[in-house]
Amino acid sequence: MKSSSFTLILSIFGIIQIAQGSPVYKDKNAPLEQRVSDLVGQMSLAEKIQQLNQLSFGINLNPNNKGETVNDVAPEVGSLIYLNEDPVERNAIQRRAMEKSRLGIPILFGFDTIHGIKTVYPIPLAQACSWNPALVTQTAAVAARETKLTGIDWTFSPMIDVSRDPRWGRIAESYGEDPHTAAVFGVATVKGYQGAKLSDPFSVASCLKHFAGYGVSEGGRDYRATDISTQALWETYLPPYEAGVKAGAATLMSGFNDISGVPASANHYLLTEILKQGWNHDGFVVSDWNSVEQLIAQGVAKDRKEAGLKSFKAGVEMNMVDRIYADHLQELLLEDKITMDSINDAVSRVLRVKFRLGLFEQPYTPIVPEADRYLRPEDKIVAAKLAEESMVLLKNERAALPISPKVKSLALIGPLVKDQENLLGCWSGNGKAKDVESIFEGVTREFGDKVKLLYARGCDFDGTDESGFTEAIDAAVKADAVVICIGEKKAWSGENSSRSTIALPAIQEKLVARLKQTGKPIILVLSNGRPLELQRLEPQADAIVEIWHPGVAGGTPLAGILSGRVNPSGRLAITFPLATGQIPIYYGMRSSARPNDGNYKDISTEPLYTFGHGLSYTSFNYGKATLSKGKLASDQMLTVQVPVTNTGSVAGQETAFWFISDPVCSVSRPMKELKHFEKKTIKPGETVVFTFEIDPQRDLSHPDSTGKKLLEAGDFHVRIKDQRLTFELVDNDDRPTVSTPVPPR
Ligand code: GLC
Repeated sequence: MKSSSFTLILSIFGIIQIAQGSPVYKDKNAPLEQRVSDLVGQMSLAEKIQQLNQLSFGINLNPNNKGETVNDVAPEVGSLIYLNEDPVERNAIQRRAMEKSRLGIPILFGFDTIHGIKTVYPIPLAQACSWNPALVTQTAAVAARETKLTGIDWTFSPMIDVSRDPRWGRIAESYGEDPHTAAVFGVATVKGYQGAKLSDPFSVASCLKHFAGYGVSEGGRDYRATDISTQALWETYLPPYEAGVKAGAATLMSGFNDISGVPASANHYLLTEILKQGWNHDGFVVSDWNSVEQLIAQGVAKDRKEAGLKSFKAGVEMNMVDRIYADHLQELLLEDKITMDSINDAVSRVLRVKFRLGLFEQPYTPIVPEADRYLRPEDKIVAAKLAEESMVLLKNERAALPISPKVKSLALIGPLVKDQENLLGCWSGNGKAKDVESIFEGVTREFGDKVKLLYARGCDFDGTDESGFTEAIDAAVKADAVVICIGEKKAWSGENSSRSTIALPAIQEKLVARLKQTGKPIILVLSNGRPLELQRLEPQADAIVEIWHPGVAGGTPLAGILSGRVNPSGRLAITFPLATGQIPIYYGMRSSARPNDGNYKDISTEPLYTFGHGLSYTSFNYGKATLSKGKLASDQMLTVQVPVTNTGSVAGQETAFWFISDPVCSVSRPMKELKHFEKKTIKPGETVVFTFEIDPQRDLSHPDSTGKKLLEAGDFHVRIKDQRLTFELVDNDDRPTVSTPVPPR
């Protein structure tokens, strides 16, 4: 329809509405854009600026953000980070907005539901190790429902920063080192949060963060600068965001980091040229906490006003808590440094999300009984299932696992055996320790009537107190096998939790060494938020189970793995370095000029556990992989298949990882890139076929430094397990020119 006739129809619609006395924006049947423009057209400048202003309300548990609590919320404020969990209180604030403000614009309540808000489930890094996106969508839907019933319409999640430095505490919040993995699980989480429609009763708006490249913080030190070539930006750090935007993510959050000198929160190239002009995102960008004001510390703004100018002009629509937009946008407009059109566009983006959420029609949170709001049995089952599928069996020798029926006494030793708080992990929302099933509880439930359990704490997470060793050793001596539960506190990962080493504190390693001297079978259970340096622990353990920070339902899934009731199916979504000194080390590195040289002279250059590592209680045999053709044109598909047989005696889930390599290209490429994965259950003796449909545009192209996807003719390899098949792409759309990296704007 021509725009003039569309405009005519809209204005007729508007006239009818005005004649009827109710403004168009209040009519839920009016077209969305009509409602947005009608409302913006009625707003004063002050009301518009308030919509771009986000404050925090309630007790802030994030120690890194000393946000003030807003006791008297202006009814016109655009958004609140709601840090309490009282929907009645929240509705009272909303009612003032709906009834006391001139235009009755609802407030958008946001919060960090990262991996559950009350039914806390495994940290995102663990979720990725499940290789089960559908299950992650299910858990995100559980989180969305509880979030909505808390009074929150918008979660600052998923975090999809590709992370390859485990010294960085926020790697726990990520889906690991691989762009494709982050894209798949980021989209799965968006789908779980946003449901079929944003206006559905239990949908919440998602927020892709931290746009972009925050995971490259120098030295793994949080908030630090990131040096990212434009090529790397497009090849590694932007794909998860492009996927999330295409999946309909309502909002994004700009990161703290500066990208090769241009802070993400003032990066026009990122926030406008790529996100708005390139990807046509019509939602909005919120800054991170104080990330506008932090432009001063980053040396690109002399004062708050200039920081506000740079952020707003770059494409940050909503200003989180430092009140710079509230203080300076009007002044900047009067000085002609920003335009009313840009303000109207920013406000329209915020209102668009509020209209899509249905907040004008349903501004209030349903008040339901606590038992129906949180921790429903069916929701805890979903959380437990994800915990079970995210746990990774890293080592299993001398038939240590599953624990033999001959074992009549089991020593459970370590600071994590009876711990509840730390199993929640970082960013655990309103999760409570009392709601966590401890390892001890889970193992007691699983083994209690068959096996004598002996418990000793042994030591603390850190420190030098060895006074608990004697009791631990006594327990071990009396037992047939020893399960040692060690790892990290929840506070050791998450924001502002960088560590110079990924080894566990010496006291924990000492405890293991002393218990090893008893000569009993040693089963290590690790609960942590990052890959750990295990080079001294690994040789002492007969078996190692990585349970990550599993959330409220971790005890029984682990017990199921120990007993053999559950066949572990987790595979690593992040490389475990042999030593901290190897960092960065990840599977998708580029090839060395001398692949067999240049290695460390003091230790191996191989990681301890590679991306995709994980053992099972059964065995899977990969048959011969086959190609549907040896040559293909860029507009054709290529089917690769591999039969996999369960050659063991118990059913198991196997994940097939399909990698693509481009051995000769106009730019050097990662040695291999994950392009597809699939997880299937296979019964003993059964053979199933895994298939990968290669789409050249999607799977064989590589971005140049402007993000343009180039296809280059030549040989490609597709890798599955230990097989490598070669095929040829026989034509190409773009004669490659080695693209000169476009300097960041
Ligand atoms: C924090 C984090 C961000 C979070 C925000 C609101 O500083 O960087 O991930 O969503 O502030 O709590």
